[in-house]
Amino acid sequence: MADAEQTHETIDAMSWESRRFPPPVEFARHALVADTSMYDEAAEDDEGFWARQAADLVTWATPWTTICNWDLPYATWFVGGQLNVAYNCLDRHVEAGLGHRVAFHWEGEPGDRRTITYADLLDEVQRFANVLRGLGVQRGDRVNIYLPMVPEAAVAMLACARIGAAHSVVFGGFSSHSLADRINDAEAKVLVTADGGYRRGEVFPLKPAADEALTSTPSIEHVVVVRRGGNEVTMVDGRDHWYHDLIAAADPVCPAEPMDSEQLLYLLYTSGTTGKPKGIMHTSGGYLVQAAFTHKFVFDLHPETDVYWCTADVGWVTGHSYIVYGPLANGATSVMYEGVPNFPGNDRFWSIIEQYGVTKFYTAPTAIRTFMKWGDAEPAKHDLSSLKVLGSVGEPINPEAWMWYHEHIGGGRCPVVDTWWQTETGAMMISPLPGATTTKPGSATFPLPGISAELVDDHGQPIRHGGGYLTLTRPWPSMMRGIWGDPDRYLRTYWSQYPGRYFAGDGAKLDDDGYLWLLGRVDDVMNVSGHRISTTEVESSLVAHPAVAEAAVVGANDATTGQAIIAYVILRSGATVDEQALRTHVGQDIGNIAKPKTIYFTPDLPKTRSGKIMRRLLRDVAEGRNLGDTTTLADSSVVAELQRRAGEAPSED
Ligand code: PRX
Repeated sequence: MADAEQTHETIDAMSWESRRFPPPVEFARHALVADTSMYDEAAEDDEGFWARQAADLVTWATPWTTICNWDLPYATWFVGGQLNVAYNCLDRHVEAGLGHRVAFHWEGEPGDRRTITYADLLDEVQRFANVLRGLGVQRGDRVNIYLPMVPEAAVAMLACARIGAAHSVVFGGFSSHSLADRINDAEAKVLVTADGGYRRGEVFPLKPAADEALTSTPSIEHVVVVRRGGNEVTMVDGRDHWYHDLIAAADPVCPAEPMDSEQLLYLLYTSGTTGKPKGIMHTSGGYLVQAAFTHKFVFDLHPETDVYWCTADVGWVTGHSYIVYGPLANGATSVMYEGVPNFPGNDRFWSIIEQYGVTKFYTAPTAIRTFMKWGDAEPAKHDLSSLKVLGSVGEPINPEAWMWYHEHIGGGRCPVVDTWWQTETGAMMISPLPGATTTKPGSATFPLPGISAELVDDHGQPIRHGGGYLTLTRPWPSMMRGIWGDPDRYLRTYWSQYPGRYFAGDGAKLDDDGYLWLLGRVDDVMNVSGHRISTTEVESSLVAHPAVAEAAVVGANDATTGQAIIAYVILRSGATVDEQALRTHVGQDIGNIAKPKTIYFTPDLPKTRSGKIMRRLLRDVAEGRNLGDTTTLADSSVVAELQRRAGEAPSED
């Protein structure tokens, strides 16, 4: 980690450390947890603690025989136990007489609405589970899901869980190329997609992108297409089927069969430090326990009265754990919204909160900073007095954004829970409990009960104060079970840096009171608007363009998106291409989220004498910092030239 960055952060944070927000007395009075007893209980016996949560929060068809089997780097949880995840999310609530409870208040971007009760959802999931079976999907098979934010995404996921197939959801913003890579890695049999969806007032086509992917995905036997956008699509006879036709003809009963606790629930692809995305594996029992536990206690859930809204897309892990599995396991009522926050106006989110009386709200710092830019007047137009807890996830939240969120959205009365976790951890790991934890703006505070986190220095020695690398020292129920098809990479990436520890890839520091402050990634992963993108992936895409000889990509600090993608490109001799064409190329190759914000064309890149690109220098140039030591640089004039170009180049917004 760059020293300069740490010092800067330390100074920044120190000026805020005097601000503390104890849980409001009135809030704590009604909170599920208002003291430290849960932490004490877990500290005494973490496995026993998780076993009690598993018994309280999940219904098991067969009890487990062993709580946790830990054979580093592999853990299995609730071994011998059997459950059905869809049964836990649906049937048991309907059996308890809660079939009329709303599972999702769904709102489309154009303003159309659907109210979906637990009974409705159970009915549709059973039908779709039978549809999948009819298309040849069996326990252990993989199903790819490439959908906009429509309720059918949750239906498809739960239908897979019901029959023991694993889903692999690919965010609808990814390109056909990215979709094809993920389908092929998972060898999925069926693809569930849509004609299109709404975004910023227009229909964006999905099926044409899926069609392009399908030219190179031999494992796919059938494609199910949800009608949403109403846009023209081509259907291939025998392969492509309309969702509504299949559902109408499906048998309405599909009993939930018990699955092994370690049955693969899903794969979710995420970027790492190399070009190839990793298929993160999550299984059933432990994952559901921790998703339900964290959703219940971090949001202080009172399912009878709460209206909960997580603004993530189901294509990311936040959507998996906190739109689908956690909330449904807890019998919560959620809002699900299809579109962007600024259609038709910049107050769309606040109007939704007012409309549905949202009580618990979960969003990302990048969104909060954007709302800040749009101005205080937007939330002020609406009655947000229903809100009780505000959550943040995806990247470090800067104290200014935290304070704005607290004041302008939470009216100064709602605890803010800054939740740190990862696709790999499956569920929240470090976060306040809103009725028990005194928060500090910008700090994720402490590991949750049952979670063991420690900072270490370069030598793997624990640090009790100051900056270090964030590691996890004990297995946790929702931890990833591996990387699909690549056990070596799993061991290498997460468990080899510091023996006996899971290394998360993040830097953090501990203050005088033992509060954790997350400092961002310390590896070659960028965090753009809360989305992980690997520098290598963007570099590979750039050099795949015929005009490009070499490329180096760095994430530079950005006031709105956290980090922005900055690329330095050397063209092949005689070749020409403009910046916009290269940006479009990356957008088509990976997806629009991976488009560099700025591309600098350069005749050379700063390299060490051994030929390694000096990314730290490139980041310094991109962020306009004075350069430190360049003595290891092979040719120091390269940097002077880059700085000159950085001063001249216009930035793309
Ligand atoms: O760098 C951390 C950052 O997001 C990374 C995980 O990204 P992903 O797997 O896409 O999951 C995002 C949603 C859980 C982490 O390694 N991150 C996530 N939450 C926070 C965070 N950084 C600081 N504070 C957070 N609350």
